[in-house]
Parts: sequence; structure tokens; C-alpha cells
Amino acid sequence: MRISHRLFGRAAIDAAQPGSLAVSLLERLEPAELEELERYGRESLGEAALDRWQLPVVAAFGFLFVGRLAGETVASAQVIRCRREGDLYMDGLYVRERFRGRGLGGALLQGVLGQLAGQGSFRRLLVTVDPGNAAALALYRARGFRVVDEMPHFYGLGADRLLLAAALKDGPA
Ligand SMILES: CC(C)(COP(=O)(O)OP(=O)(O)OC[C@H]1O[C@@H](n2cnc3c(N)ncnc32)[C@H](O)[C@@H]1OP(=O)(O)O)[C@@H](O)C(=O)NCCC(=O)NCCS
Repeated sequence: MRISHRLFGRAAIDAAQPGSLAVSLLERLEPAELEELERYGRESLGEAALDRWQLPVVAAFGFLFVGRLAGETVASAQVIRCRREGDLYMDGLYVRERFRGRGLGGALLQGVLGQLAGQGSFRRLLVTVDPGNAAALALYRARGFRVVDEMPHFYGLGADRLLLAAALKDGPA
């Protein structure tokens, strides 16, 4: 089985940190890679992470991004198409805990937005965020995401979410 890894960009991070984040789109996952991504997701997002039954589906039929630092996978994000034409939805963006706070989340998001915008046919990238997740809200807002809806009890009683959107083409999100 051929593993397809497309490298489409490098985003510079904090000048004090040598190296840069390489953001790749994975279309198929090696067994070891799947195990690794499942583990990193669980460590970062707990039970909200995509598992081994969902990650390969996103890789094959959606967009599975990983961010690597000197060859080591440190971050990931998964994107699927929405029912509404032109909309994409991002799930499970994370940076592994010990790599946080040095711009890698921003570099990953920049790579994801750049790649998706380059596809041409998509208008918006949507994401839902826990209103109490200050780090995620700061990350998204700094890269053009705006709150477009409130979703009370989205993940069950009291588990509210904000719906954020960023424009992938010129125009409103
Ligand atoms: C959210 C997350 C991806 C950010 O990754 P990161 O690599 O630490 O992010 P960065 O270093 O690029 O910082 C991004 C922004 O958030 C800000 N930030 C980081 N941690 C913060 C915190 N605890 N509170 C407030 N702001 C914070 C930074 O100042 C930065 O702002 P700027 O872009 O205006 O400079 C990371 O915290 C994470 O993986 N969290 C667990 C998973 C999660 O919550 N994912 C989001 C699901 S919607």
C-alpha cells in the first residue's frame, strides 16, 4: 500500500525556536502512524478525540493534517465537508501538551487555512469551541475566525459550544 504524504508548506514559528513546523496532508495512515495519532489525540482531547475508526476515514475522504517538528508529529487537525456547499468543518485540532505556547498551534492553523484556500472551491471553515477554552479562542480569533452562532448543549447538557467561521475566499465568513 502506498502512503501518500503531501507537504504543502512550512510556517515559521517563534524565532527563538530553531526549525519550523512542516504541515502535511495525510491521505493514508500506516498502522504505526494511526496508533500514534490515536494516542496523541486522546492525550490532547480526551474522549473528544477521533479514534482509529474515524481517523482513517477522514484521511481517505476528508483532510487529515499533521504538523511535524524535525520529523516528530506534534500537532494535528481533521477537516470534513459539510452538507452546505462550500463549507468545511474542522474537528480535533490540537498541539501536544509539551509543545504548546510557542506558536505551533498558529502555524498549524495557518498551514491548514492556506491549503484549504488553495483548493479554490471552499468558502468557509467552521469549528466549534468550548466558550471556556481561552487558548483555542485566542488562536482562532487571531487567524480571522469570528463567532457566527451559539450552540447550547451541543455535546449534551451544559456542554455548550460556540460556532466560529473563517473565510477561505475573499468575502464574509
Ligand atoms: C488550543 C491549542 C491548539 C493552542 O496551541 P498552541 O501551540 O499552544 O498555540 P499558540 O502557541 O500558537 O498560541 C495561539 C494563541 O493562543 C494564545 N494562548 C495560548 N495559550 C493560552 C491560554 N492558556 N489562554 C489564553 N490565550 C492563550 C497565545 O497567546 C496565542 O495568541 P496569538 O496568536 O494572538 O499570539 C492547544 O492549547 C491545545 O492543543 N489545546 C488542547 C486541545 C484543544 O483545546 N483544541 C481546540 C479544540 S477547538
